[in-house]
Amino acid sequence: MSESEPKHRILLIITGGIAAYKCLELIRRARDRGIAVRCVMTKAAQQFVTPLSVGALTNDRVFTDLFDLNDEREIGHIRLSREAGLVVVAPASADFLAKMAGGHADDLASSVLLATDKPVLVAPAMNSRMWAHPATVRNVATLTEDGISFIGPGVGEMAESGEAGAGRMSEPHDILDAIQEMLEGPVQGPLQGLRFLITAGPTHEPIDPVRYIANRSSGQQGYAIATAAARLGADVTLVSGPTGLAAPDGVETIQVEAASDMLAAVEASLPADIAVFTAAVADWRVDGSAEQKIKKDRKGTPQLKLVENADILATVSQLPGAERPQLVIGFAAETEHVIKHATAKLARKSCDWIVANDVSPATGIMGGAHNEVHLIKDGGSVDDWPRMAKDEVADRLVREAGEYALAHRT
Ligand SMILES: Cc1cc2nc3c(=O)[nH]c(=O)nc-3n(C[C@H](O)[C@H](O)[C@H](O)COP(=O)(O)O)c2cc1C
Repeated sequence: MSESEPKHRILLIITGGIAAYKCLELIRRARDRGIAVRCVMTKAAQQFVTPLSVGALTNDRVFTDLFDLNDEREIGHIRLSREAGLVVVAPASADFLAKMAGGHADDLASSVLLATDKPVLVAPAMNSRMWAHPATVRNVATLTEDGISFIGPGVGEMAESGEAGAGRMSEPHDILDAIQEMLEGPVQGPLQGLRFLITAGPTHEPIDPVRYIANRSSGQQGYAIATAAARLGADVTLVSGPTGLAAPDGVETIQVEAASDMLAAVEASLPADIAVFTAAVADWRVDGSAEQKIKKDRKGTPQLKLVENADILATVSQLPGAERPQLVIGFAAETEHVIKHATAKLARKSCDWIVANDVSPATGIMGGAHNEVHLIKDGGSVDDWPRMAKDEVADRLVREAGEYALAHRT
């Protein structure tokens, strides 16, 4: 940032999560966008990054202690956020969310938050089990009710364990987009005016009221696509099978179970400009699933007769004229001859693009945080993308699809 007056000032509260290191990039990028950052760090945050490195990047002193008399005389916790247009908590640990929700004020960071009259944006970061814990869910609901805004967390690999799931702090550039939007109002995204319809996750095909046939799809790639499209300004509907993932911000999310419900929800959500079908829809369902739980003590083992489900990708691809989305994108999860099988699928279903990937267990793609895809288009081109985080695959796909749809609009 130049020495000239910054466009905005924010107060950044860094709490004790492994993602604290990402704050250094957040501060640097904020300054590039003309946003001056003043930092408060909790005691735990200082285990992850030092006030020295944070202060070097903010070019300001870093505030850490509620009982520092000098601070109290010179500035004080009540005044700390006064010059800022916005207070940002990033990363927000599970512990700190609990403190905020409980209205605690036993350290500088929590006292500032209790005393501020400025809008507050929170970027949670934690292990996916901590994020899904009922206590955290309750705290987030309380804070949302209190008018606190959230960004993320995203889905991806956890820094500390290599495990994948929801809980990863949003990327600094996304947090900055959210900061800018809160300070300056909605930013016109490049996909403004486009409507995306996306499916994600597995389907559950009932055997009886308590048992079902499912598959290993986690839904992460579809959720990442929905998130990316919404962030870039598109109007997004996500039809999701059972995944346990939190509905992405700004996305109309419809939860379904069986393939037949998914097709009905997709049809009800049309028209759309772009349809992206990432869901691993069951090919078969149990013919006449039982209305009551099948008992083990009845004679012999039950014989399940499978019947074919409707094909959602083919149904939508083959819709007539204006009812058909301008661009229909399917996903092909293959375990061998990936390009050959995916190209055949594209022709068979009449969709426009297929994103093909190798989901053999050795690739770790199904349920993992990364993906390695080939984008096959109906003209026959095959584009091999490098191995990327599912968020990055989503961003690239959504941008390419959006550009195509805007360029070919009738
Ligand atoms: C190596 C390590 C990594 C941690 N990462 C996280 C994390 O990412 N998110 C989280 O909520 N807690 C994490 N914790 C636990 C918090 O640091 C701990 O709950 C702390 O008391 C939070 O303090 P705070 O309220 O100042 O954030 C981690 C702890 C350790 C030792």
